[in-house]
Amino acid sequence: MRYVRPLMDGRGAVRLFCANGSLTMSTPKKLYIKTYGCQMNVYDSERMAEAMGGEGYVQTDTPDDADMILLNTCHIREKAAEKVYSELGRYKGLKAEKPDLKIGVAGCVAQAEGQEIMRRQPMVDLVVGPQSYHRLPQLEAKARAGEKAVDTDFPEEDKFAHLKGRPKAKRGPTAFLTVQEGCDKFCAFCVVPYTRGAEVSRPSQRIMGEARDLVERGVREITLLGQNVNAYHGHEKGLGGLVRELATIDGLERIRFTTSHPNDMDDDLIAAHADCEKLMPYLHLPVQAGSDKILKRMNRSHTAEQYIRLIERLREARPDLHLSGDFIVGFPEETEQDFLDTMALIEEVKYGSAFSFKYSERPGTPAAERPQVPEDEKDDRLRRLQALLGQQQRDLQNAMVGREVSVLFEKKGRLPGQMIGKSEYLHAVHAVVENVEVGELAKVKIVASQSNSLTGELI
Ligand code: 5AD
Ligand code: SF4
Repeated sequence: MRYVRPLMDGRGAVRLFCANGSLTMSTPKKLYIKTYGCQMNVYDSERMAEAMGGEGYVQTDTPDDADMILLNTCHIREKAAEKVYSELGRYKGLKAEKPDLKIGVAGCVAQAEGQEIMRRQPMVDLVVGPQSYHRLPQLEAKARAGEKAVDTDFPEEDKFAHLKGRPKAKRGPTAFLTVQEGCDKFCAFCVVPYTRGAEVSRPSQRIMGEARDLVERGVREITLLGQNVNAYHGHEKGLGGLVRELATIDGLERIRFTTSHPNDMDDDLIAAHADCEKLMPYLHLPVQAGSDKILKRMNRSHTAEQYIRLIERLREARPDLHLSGDFIVGFPEETEQDFLDTMALIEEVKYGSAFSFKYSERPGTPAAERPQVPEDEKDDRLRRLQALLGQQQRDLQNAMVGREVSVLFEKKGRLPGQMIGKSEYLHAVHAVVENVEVGELAKVKIVASQSNSLTGELI
């Protein structure tokens, strides 16, 4: 018997039409996806699950009962990449018990290491790079037929145009939407231009269509994603134009975007922070370092002063803007003075939140070839940097007490009547509320600040 068309019946079983047209039922195959790294991987994992849904797979949250395990990986730092191999090691027993289990590696490690993954871990059946997810069903079929399947091409076609539409199921109030992928900046430490390829923007009509569809299904807040999101050029007026057009969608209440590069922050996007009410007052704008010498060696193409002037312009447009950043300590040849310049920049800007990392050598990137900073110095600088950033984060959070914020409620809390949501500044806010549903926006007065969240009362 040859199965030709699997369809979900909505109750978790799969209807299978045999070649002769008769109908048979079978239990669905189960797909376990583990996602590492950035928000774009979260979005890609959702889309892969949807693509595999069309092939008769339902998602499971444990690898134990899976028919296919997919690791959506991150290559940005050595630790992230090595995690993949230790995770794969854990599935050895499972694979021995269940020879039909297929194991796949997707994401940036797949792109960077390709076939090498199968050499290090022969139990891997399938390797798929981020630009080829629309080919996942064919790759899975190949793996099921007992062949090794590898696809790490950068195909001409747009993977998003070829991925199946999202199913119409209801969803939570927040969603990610990828608008741009890849990076042409080539910062000297970063693998992204190699793993995600050149900058590509999705056409704005497609994004508008996907956004409308998300809103129909209950989404109230969309975060636009791109490795260099503000270099978006799929709209004639750039990202600012796209944000303004998205803001015309009734029912879409909040728009965010991440991650931006300082050099692509154009006048219109800055102005949108002043005049587009739906654009939230929170901006992730990585600077990486505060020393001009290091910024130059990082190939960032801007100085510390230019970054600070840009922040001033953004704050003129939106005085309550909360800023977030990424920092790298211990970049090759970073001296104590260079590090102190980074600390001084942080003192001047004052961040509401931040991500900070020790420099990690990435093979094939220019900085990996240069004289390295000793590990204990990196540790020491990271500790001092995180102490400062942590203090700023606490200070800004504590300063919210007494203020009114708007909260988009995302889920129920543990206490009776408690709901948890996010403020416009992306603070987690708990409140005991009556008659407020998940997905509703409400005005809340902040009454207390805890280490990682705020407590509010409905106004
Ligand atoms: N080492 C440490 N941090 C890195 N990042 C990117 N590449 C490296 C590296 N080789 C950080 C940058 C970037 C964030 C996503 O990860 O701060 O903005
Ligand atoms: Fe990497 Fe961002 Fe630099 Fe691009 S702009 S190379 S993604 S750090």
